Amino acid sequence: MTGAHGKENDVGKPMSRAGKLLCAVAAVALAGTVVTLSGCGQGKGAAQVDQARLLAADKEPGNWMSHGRTWSEQRFSPLDKVNASNVGNLGLAWSFQLSTNRGVEVTPVVVDGTMYVTSSWSVVYALNAKTGALLWKYDPQVPRETGKFACCDVVNRGVAVWKGKVYVAALDGRLIALDAKSGQPAWSVNTTDPKLPYTITGAPRVFKDKVVIGNGGSEYGVRGYVTAYDAADGKQLWRFYTTPGDPSKPQESKALEMAVKTWQGDWFKQGGGGGSPWDSMSYDPDLNMLYFGTGNGAPWDQTSRSKGQGDNLFLSSIVAVDADTGEYRWHYQTTPGDTWDFDSTQTVTLADLTIDGQPRKVLMQAAKNGFFYVIDRTNGKLLSAHNYVTTSWASSVDPATGRPIEQGDPRYKKGPAIVMPSSFGGHNWHPQSFSPKTGLVYLPAQDVPGVYGTDDKYAYKNGEWNTANDTRLNSLPDDKKARAAMKNSMRGMLVAWDPVAGKEAWRAEHKGPWNGGTMATAGGLVFQGTLDGKFNAYDASNGKPLWTTDAYAAVLAGPMTYEVDGEQYVAVGAGFGSVFYLVAGFALDHPGNPENGRILVYKLGGTATLPKPDMTKIAVPKPPADAASAQIVATGHATYNKYCLVCHGYNAIGGGVIPDLRYSSLIGDDTGFKGVVLRGDRKSNGMVSFASTLSATDADAIRAYLIHEANGAYAAEQAPAAK
Ligand code: HEC
Repeated sequence: MTGAHGKENDVGKPMSRAGKLLCAVAAVALAGTVVTLSGCGQGKGAAQVDQARLLAADKEPGNWMSHGRTWSEQRFSPLDKVNASNVGNLGLAWSFQLSTNRGVEVTPVVVDGTMYVTSSWSVVYALNAKTGALLWKYDPQVPRETGKFACCDVVNRGVAVWKGKVYVAALDGRLIALDAKSGQPAWSVNTTDPKLPYTITGAPRVFKDKVVIGNGGSEYGVRGYVTAYDAADGKQLWRFYTTPGDPSKPQESKALEMAVKTWQGDWFKQGGGGGSPWDSMSYDPDLNMLYFGTGNGAPWDQTSRSKGQGDNLFLSSIVAVDADTGEYRWHYQTTPGDTWDFDSTQTVTLADLTIDGQPRKVLMQAAKNGFFYVIDRTNGKLLSAHNYVTTSWASSVDPATGRPIEQGDPRYKKGPAIVMPSSFGGHNWHPQSFSPKTGLVYLPAQDVPGVYGTDDKYAYKNGEWNTANDTRLNSLPDDKKARAAMKNSMRGMLVAWDPVAGKEAWRAEHKGPWNGGTMATAGGLVFQGTLDGKFNAYDASNGKPLWTTDAYAAVLAGPMTYEVDGEQYVAVGAGFGSVFYLVAGFALDHPGNPENGRILVYKLGGTATLPKPDMTKIAVPKPPADAASAQIVATGHATYNKYCLVCHGYNAIGGGVIPDLRYSSLIGDDTGFKGVVLRGDRKSNGMVSFASTLSATDADAIRAYLIHEANGAYAAEQAPAAK
């Protein structure tokens, strides 16, 4: 039993501790832990969502029964009790502290007064949506070593519910069905080969008794696919691979026979070419099609993947398949021959628009590559594409061919290149929303430059970081002014995009990039959080800020809204983590705060309060002397960037939720350092051993580099005037 009840709910406190213990029943099953607080408020018939109910979701505006509320993933709520005239009175109704730290990317699902949420490490919670009381909790006990294969933090974006079951996809590749009333597992299947570096962070989707899920892992080398399972028993129904297999063998489908012609080289020996569909999926019941976005190429550098040639289908694409059979219908590739980590996994929003006087069934995506696509979803034909952020790699998209017109040397063939957008994307997983009332798409957009260069020493190794990019170049230059200049060129904004006119209607600037997903409501509002810990509401028609509150943690997830007993609630997840936070090297002004994530729920007149965390900056402890040669430090820097940066941050500046190594006493302790890095002393906490790839000399060089960075930070603090 892992439930720390005292910590599960530190605000709201709907029940006395004694009361909670009275109704607590714990059970362990199927390699996971369930804590059930039975008789604690959840009615019979929990999560009885089915095709008819989801088809008529607009008749139940008080529920949010699917990831993006409806299958169209518009993230628009018809609720309007909270609106532009009264949103200023929004206050905290309750908050729920999750049992894990690390990033919070979940969109809660609410059905008939029960909220289903997930936290990092794929833990599921059922909460009373009115009070925040915990009804049950299921921890799939993901082995913490799996964290090594999660490029972008050990997050989870939420559950699907259907006919009394709650479905979660665990980081380690399991798809698990839980009883919605008790949280007890009903079935569990491995959707991936546990020997390969797949991870799942996305939310499953359900329609027609099928639960569908994709996977991630393209930074390490995998072959992406989407699989549909029978919602009742987990039997596999169909699978669609997003890259072709070994070209000397027959492909699994006609679509892959077509795709294999667009590849060269030996991608299939390097894990499978990538294309992992790790996030967006939408379903159109009228056309009976499922649409999903696919990931980047593996390795990133197309030279190493496909001899630098070919479109490499179905990487960086939007793919439509028959919802019953998984058969290919059409595809639209946003980035042919991807070589920048330009996933096309961003929200795929379905809507009916009038374009040039014609009613069109469209799908819309603000892809990572910086272009906003409007596509006819009946046939995959491009209707329009315009850049919504700076796109240095391509001037425009040719409307006739639908292909980007590249400019300069964006494929870094002649040497390292600075490209915008970067692997962080003009827009990433943070969900966009669409309001049929304003006709606008609300989009968390950003300018973040990236440096790309071919890694001449690249050799594929199963289970390792396999991007074939020279990661030494990924660091901001080792110079304070240059770092500051790079940081200052980054921007984050809420963009209201007019998809018919193909241009921005308004924007709200934020302090920096990597801000939250959005939700639009019939109350004329758009909600969005920010990396620096605010949760805001704007006037949907003109972007006027109408309300803001402190979340004391990054608010990156998609907000949602629901109604219980006639009252409207607005909910959002908040927490420290998510890839940019871990990697950016300057996430916040304090060295971080490993507090657990929270679900924050607001209502008009809410009076609950959040405990304010201690944000005092912690001084860098006096490091050991910086005695190593510049060459060893440079070697250590390169090795650090290749193996450590994704979790411990650029320039060894940690986001805090994973230790900032400049503060670690282990950098002065050779034995202790090697114990963690080469022996795996902390593997049960997510810090695996790197002994299979790194030698003792490598570890020494990394430690020398960390001492160098710690000395720089220490000196800067000791002489603040020189900053
Ligand atoms: C997949 C993410 C990940 C990667 C990659 C990673 N680490 Fe870690 N590291 C962690 C986590 C999580 C912890 C905290 C473990 C704990 O709580 O005990 C940690 C802790 C550590 C610590 C202990 C710090 C302290 O004082 O407690 C050291 C040292 C360390 N890592 C070094 C490295 C080095 C060197 C590399 C690259 C070779 C690396 N790590 C790569 C996740 C990672």
